[in-house]
Amino acid sequence: MLQNKRILLIISGGIAAYKCLELLRLLREQGATVRCILTKSATEFITPLSVATLSGEKVYGDLFSLTDEYGMGHIKLSRDADLLVVVPATANILARMAQGIADDLATTVLLATNKKVMAVPSMNVRMWEHAATVSNIKTLQGRGVEILGPNCGAMACGEYGEGRMVEPTEILTAIRTHFSDNSRLNGLRALVTSGPTHEPIDPVRYIANRSSGKQGHAIASALVRLGAETTLVRGPTNEPDPDGAKVIRVETACEMLKACKNALPTDIAVCAAAVSDWRIKKETSQKIKKENAELTLSLKENPDILELLSQPGNERPRLVVGFAAETSDVAEKAISKRGKKGCDWIIGNDVSPKSGTFGGDTNQVHLVTETGSESWPKMSKLEVADLLVNRIADQFRPQAPTE
Ligand code: C5P
Repeated sequence: MLQNKRILLIISGGIAAYKCLELLRLLREQGATVRCILTKSATEFITPLSVATLSGEKVYGDLFSLTDEYGMGHIKLSRDADLLVVVPATANILARMAQGIADDLATTVLLATNKKVMAVPSMNVRMWEHAATVSNIKTLQGRGVEILGPNCGAMACGEYGEGRMVEPTEILTAIRTHFSDNSRLNGLRALVTSGPTHEPIDPVRYIANRSSGKQGHAIASALVRLGAETTLVRGPTNEPDPDGAKVIRVETACEMLKACKNALPTDIAVCAAAVSDWRIKKETSQKIKKENAELTLSLKENPDILELLSQPGNERPRLVVGFAAETSDVAEKAISKRGKKGCDWIIGNDVSPKSGTFGGDTNQVHLVTETGSESWPKMSKLEVADLLVNRIADQFRPQAPTE
C-alpha cells in the first residue's frame, strides 16, 4: 500500500524511540522508502547504526555536516519526502516546532518543509497536560500538523496517564490512511452499531456485557475517512464519538433496532455492537427489594438487529457485515453464523479471556465472505477497521490494479 511513498521519520529523544525500529520495519514491509533524521538526544536511546540497517538508507543528524549538505541538503531532504513523521515527538521538539526554532537538522527540516507533517507525542502525563504543551499542540494543529495520540497507560517513568506513544501499528494505519484515496466511499451511506446494550432490570440495575465499543467506533471512523455518510448507533460506552459521523445514543436492544431502522436506507451496514440477546420479561417500575435470599429473573429474547437488517427487501443494505464473538472454534462458528443470520460477510473474533479482545486495543479476526474465510493476523482494532473498510470499498469501487 505504501509502494513508492517516501517517508521522512524525525526521531527525537524519548524513551519510546526504540518503537521507531518496529515502525521502520512495518513501513519498509509495505514498500515505503524511509529516511531518518535522529536528533542528538535520540542517539542516547537508539543507535544510528540500527536505524541505518533497518531503513537501508543513510541516517541524518548533523545540520553542519559538509558531506551531508553536499549530498542531500536540508531543503532537499524535506522536499524529497511525501510525508514527515515526528516520532516520538517530545515536549521539547513540539515546543521548538510551535515556535519555529531551527537549531538542529530536525527542526530546520521541519521549518523548511512544504509537506504534510504528523507528530506522535510521547511524554510524561504532567508534561502533556502542562499549559505550554497544550498551547503548542493547539498551535501546531492550527497549522495543519496531524497529532496522533497520545494514549493513556503505564509509562516508562512509572506514572500512569495520558502521554504514552501510540503503537507502531496505529502509526502505520494513520500513514496508510494519509496516502489512501479518501473519496472511495463518497456518495455512499453507512450504518454502524457499536458498544454493548444495557437491559434494565429495574430503575437502578441492568444487564450488560464487556463490550468497549472500540472496534465499532473505529469502523465508523474509517468509513467517515473514506467519505461514507455514516450513522453510528452506539450503546453505552466510554469511547468518544467519532468526528464526522451522525451519532445516535441508545441504551437497549429495542432502542438500537428502532434507531437502525430510522437510519435506513443505507448502502452498507456493519453490526459490531454486542447486543444483549435477552431482556427482562417483566419490567419493574420500582427498585426490587432484597426480600429473599434468591431472585429469579425471567428473560425474553431481544430482536436480532443483524438478522432483521439482512432480510431481503427494498431497504436491505447492499452489504451487511456482522460480527461473531466466540471463545472457541472462531472460524467455524463464524461461517455457520453467516448462514444463520443471512448477512453477506461476518467477522469472527476471539473474545476468550486470554485474547484480551474485550476492552483491549487489539483483535484477531477471521473474515468470512461468500467466497470463503481468511484469517488476519493479530493487529490493532484501528487497523482491523482500516482493512475491513478498504475491503468494503473494494466491493463498491474496485481500484485499478497498480502496474
Ligand atoms: O448471535 P450473536 O450475538 O453471536 O451474533 C453477533 C452478531 O449479531 C453481531 O454482529 C451483533 O451485532 C449482531 N446482533 C444483533 N442483534 C442481536 C444480537 C446480535 O444485531 N440481538
